[in-house]
Amino acid sequence: MTVTSRGVSRRRLLQLAGAGAAVSALPLARPAIAQAKPVKVGVLLPYTGTYAPLGEAITRAMELYVKQKGGSLAGRQITFVKLDDESAPPKGPELTTKLVQGEKVDILTGTVHSGVALAMSKIAREEGIPTIIPNAGANDLTRTLCARNIFRTSFANGQVGLATGTAMAEAGIKRVVTCTWKYAAGVEFVEGFADNFKKAGGQVLKNIEVPFPNVEFQSALAEIASIKPDAVYAFYAGGGAVKFVKDYAAARLGASIPLWGPGFLTDGIESAVGKEGDGVKTVLHYADDVDNAENKAFRKAFQDAYKAAPDVYAVQGWDAMQLLEIGLTAAGGDAAKRDALNAAMSKASFNSPRGPFRLSAANNPVQNFYLRELKDGKNQLIRTTATAFSDPGTGCKLSA
Ligand code: PHB
Repeated sequence: MTVTSRGVSRRRLLQLAGAGAAVSALPLARPAIAQAKPVKVGVLLPYTGTYAPLGEAITRAMELYVKQKGGSLAGRQITFVKLDDESAPPKGPELTTKLVQGEKVDILTGTVHSGVALAMSKIAREEGIPTIIPNAGANDLTRTLCARNIFRTSFANGQVGLATGTAMAEAGIKRVVTCTWKYAAGVEFVEGFADNFKKAGGQVLKNIEVPFPNVEFQSALAEIASIKPDAVYAFYAGGGAVKFVKDYAAARLGASIPLWGPGFLTDGIESAVGKEGDGVKTVLHYADDVDNAENKAFRKAFQDAYKAAPDVYAVQGWDAMQLLEIGLTAAGGDAAKRDALNAAMSKASFNSPRGPFRLSAANNPVQNFYLRELKDGKNQLIRTTATAFSDPGTGCKLSA
């Protein structure tokens, strides 16, 4: 008997080959094998650096959503391929290519940092791969650079800025100093804020910028103390927000100059800042006590799974999977049917923990905004400041 180098006889090899031929001749065998292939979801998020907790919260919520559905969406097993982008824009192109061409993912999700997202989405547009952004707010992604395959489950930076500008003017605030990290997101949060705040008669006395991800705030705080505005509007997030809120409290500015900002200033950092965060007011498309069944179930499931409270980033990750499930279901579980998948996602409307969720013609969320105050370790809901509030989507040429 001839034995091959692996110790299998030639006769046995022929038997195996014959069995293979018999299987492939069965008409139902091939589709069954093809359908068992999991849908690969590429995840580009920060797992190190100042935005690491944000990437972690998004990942946890995405994984939890899929786990609750038995590991599958639309009858297809989901596998995640995760890469750490470190919130470093120069890493965006290489890492995105690694996911799309190297890993051949079916769907792309990510990221947190606007600069990385702009780099990622350039490749996503060229490749036509369905892409869901679970945080980064760079305006252009759903304005001039909008595309049929690019979706956001978060916000446009300008949209949050506009909503916060209106709420601060409604609170009777007239003279403000703005303070932000100097990169796309911070610049756009301040621009949107200033647009609506000035239209309502407010005045921006000074804009103080700090390079990202720098956390040296002493000279900014000294300047605020000397200008004595009615209030400060500040954008920092993650580790940087913890430092800013604590430094602001240590400088004893809060009593005379209330601290405001887009809700990223206080979301996810409630226990890290403790009492020092009390009184900080923010506006965001989420509040812990949004009163709907989806939010209650989501918060309980997240708390049970991770022994930690969810935040806005987790909500955005959760909804990225809600959106994907709607798209995949319409495509019969076949991620290669990109037109069907994209069309269904663009028309999606569902209950989010944040309240009703649907997308604008530019694929950016149309959503409620809430005024919150950080107190006793919780961002307490004060009131809904805007319902079904949309980003203007300026320059997006997608027809509905
Ligand atoms: C952004 O870079 O778009 C960004 C990052 C962190 C946030 C919000 C926006 O909390």
